Amino acid sequence: MRMVSPVLSLRGVTKRFGGLVAVNGMDFDVTEHEVLGLIGPNGSGKSTTLNLISGALMPSEGTISLRGAPITHLAAQDIARKGVARTFQLVRLLPSMTVLENVKAGAVFGHRRRWGTEANAQAQALMEQVGLAGRGHLKVGQLTYIDTKRVELARALAGDPKVLLLDEWLAGLNPTELEEGIALIRRLRDEGRTVILVEHVMDAIRSLCDRCVVMASGTKIAEGAVADVLADPEVIRAYLGDDDD
Ligand SMILES: Nc1ncnc2c1ncn2[C@@H]1O[C@H](COP(=O)(O)OP(=O)(O)O)[C@@H](O)[C@H]1O
Ligand SMILES: [Mg+2]
Repeated sequence: MRMVSPVLSLRGVTKRFGGLVAVNGMDFDVTEHEVLGLIGPNGSGKSTTLNLISGALMPSEGTISLRGAPITHLAAQDIARKGVARTFQLVRLLPSMTVLENVKAGAVFGHRRRWGTEANAQAQALMEQVGLAGRGHLKVGQLTYIDTKRVELARALAGDPKVLLLDEWLAGLNPTELEEGIALIRRLRDEGRTVILVEHVMDAIRSLCDRCVVMASGTKIAEGAVADVLADPEVIRAYLGDDDD
């Protein structure tokens, strides 16, 4: 049997906000080159889970490890430097800076730091990869919505992350953009990136993920091959109870 050691592990990870248990004893592993879907109804704790992994929030209990080393209590910038990059459910960029400057900021603050001409060359390559070739000089405030998402993705990739966390990166795209967006994530998958994909677009989950973890009310209710999990009656029940979708 081939042993695959996980890139990222969560064990008993819990987050309380006052009396609310937003994330309740989460356990899962992400293996190298895996695109793991993290799904569940609105308010089930997906974004909070990503916030705990990236260090935007501290867990109330439990352990988060990156290649076996605990990162549970590190500050967000230290976790980023160790190789966890993310995009936000609501895009966060530096609007008065150019596309190129935003992407380069990811190289400066990320896992593998680059400066000067090296950072420039890498930023140009990433802009091309995400479909922003020739637009490096534009201010981010001038871009369309999907293009701001492309900038955010390029910025996250600029640090050469070991794990990329995408929080509803496809949300709000029109059908044409959605196809482009899925193709873009598929390319990341083909490159062997390790990704946690929080997504409501089930076509994207089906076509991009091998495995998924399903949350409901902060708890993991299912984990496994996508087709099996989506056919699980408990998962179907959890989604049918969600009027927001
Ligand atoms: N900073 C916070 N303070 C208090 N409650 C929060 C905070 N962040 C999230 N929550 C609550 O935690 C629960 C899970 O939220 P979230 O992780 O955003 O869910 P999802 O991303 O699955 O929609 C929700 O009930 C939400 O209102
Ligand atoms: Mg969310």
